[in-house]
Amino acid sequence: MELEKQLDYIKKCQEIVRRSAALKGRPLTFYIETFGCQMNERDSEKLRGILEEIGYERGEGEESDVVLYNTCTVRENANTRVYGRLGKLSSIKKGSPDMIIGLCGCMMQEEQVVEKIKKDFKFVDIVFGTHNIYVLAELLYKTLTEKKQIIDVREKADEIVEDLPADRTYFFKSGVNIMYGCDNFCSYCIVPYVRGRERSREARDILRECERLAKDGVRELMLLGQNVNSYGKNLDNGISFAELLKEVCRVDGIDRVRFMTSHPKDLSDELIKVMAEEEKVCRHLHLPMQSGSSRILKAMNRRYSKEDYLDLVGRIRTAMPDISLTTDIIVGFPTETEEDFLETLDVVDKVGFDSAFTFIYSIRSGTPAAKMEQVDEAVIKDRFDRLLKLVQERAAERCARFEGRTMDVLVESVNRQDKDLVTGRISNNLVVHFDGDESLIGKIVPVKMEECKGFYYIGKRA
Ligand code: 5AD
Ligand code: SF4
Repeated sequence: MELEKQLDYIKKCQEIVRRSAALKGRPLTFYIETFGCQMNERDSEKLRGILEEIGYERGEGEESDVVLYNTCTVRENANTRVYGRLGKLSSIKKGSPDMIIGLCGCMMQEEQVVEKIKKDFKFVDIVFGTHNIYVLAELLYKTLTEKKQIIDVREKADEIVEDLPADRTYFFKSGVNIMYGCDNFCSYCIVPYVRGRERSREARDILRECERLAKDGVRELMLLGQNVNSYGKNLDNGISFAELLKEVCRVDGIDRVRFMTSHPKDLSDELIKVMAEEEKVCRHLHLPMQSGSSRILKAMNRRYSKEDYLDLVGRIRTAMPDISLTTDIIVGFPTETEEDFLETLDVVDKVGFDSAFTFIYSIRSGTPAAKMEQVDEAVIKDRFDRLLKLVQERAAERCARFEGRTMDVLVESVNRQDKDLVTGRISNNLVVHFDGDESLIGKIVPVKMEECKGFYYIGKRA
């Protein structure tokens, strides 16, 4: 039903865009900027798919006929950046009043943001949220015909709309949503409020999409969800994530499978076993630890302790000694003491992450942690610098372990700085630059890992 309705709006928009392009004597263009995580990246591919179906072509930047910002709100600075960019967009729009400006994504799910847009950014034409990106054509049609600000932000997702077009950034790799939302309510995190309750897609829909992507030339899949390990829990007769992963590995033409993100509390031995057994599963696991202090982990509502985390890492490394582990760490969570922080350093030292994203705690209003006792900014800054130093030292050591080995690399692009090099990734997710040309893009080739440069490699085709 919803799919047909939206396809109908796409047709209606096609007509308007065709006429407008004829009048202007040039094709109409669009530009989408994506903030935030892989979920948003994937959503933007779907938004691009809809716009291209309507007849818009890819534009160069903010001078385009349709400009969309797919926003993030996980930390406050993401919001600040969007407001800054909107200021600039307003002056561009003064010069081309037909331009359509749209905002979507996580930030739009916050009431005070929408209020601010209504009040301070009246030139924004369409606003929609995370639960209804599939309505883009409908909103576009309304703004094109009614010429007023259209806001459609929904409290929750009514349904999962399958089979709308998507335009992939890379022809050889793709994200695949397996579930939406998050039910964990970590006390610092706004995601459960802006992305809603956990909803898994039916396994058969996921597999059908994977098969279609494989036929279309995709070789590497990234299964996406805020917490993939709880996949299937809200489905009747749902299968587990481990079972799903196994099924995805059976898809012909797919050579590599990754997934993101895993919550340590839900990572099962069954999953470790499937990962170890299936050759297609990449030797990389992103396992956000957030803090090394059991007391802070409790206050964060993470539902595992320092010991649980280390134990899990031990089991993963026993099953897959070569695996790369990466993580997310928050510094300066409310009430964090020097002792708590030293526990975090201890885990970083013990685990030896291949890389770690380190974040300064950011207050998100409406979350439980926002009301807790905050840590002094200067103290946080000092801790952040110390953590970063250790993370980088340990990452460089870990990175060096591949030196001299020959490994399969999926080539992603021609190197931006040096046209005689191409850039790709090994299964462990490390970046390698090596001799080659455009014809290698999308292929998996053996490469000798010659020189470790800290967090990437210079290699040579083997
Ligand atoms: N402040 C800082 N970092 C945060 N993250 C989530 N919420 C916050 C916050 N309020 C981090 C977590 C998460 C990653 C995606 O963003 O580390 O794993
Ligand atoms: Fe946020 Fe925790 Fe859910 Fe991750 S698991 S999205 S950190 S609430």
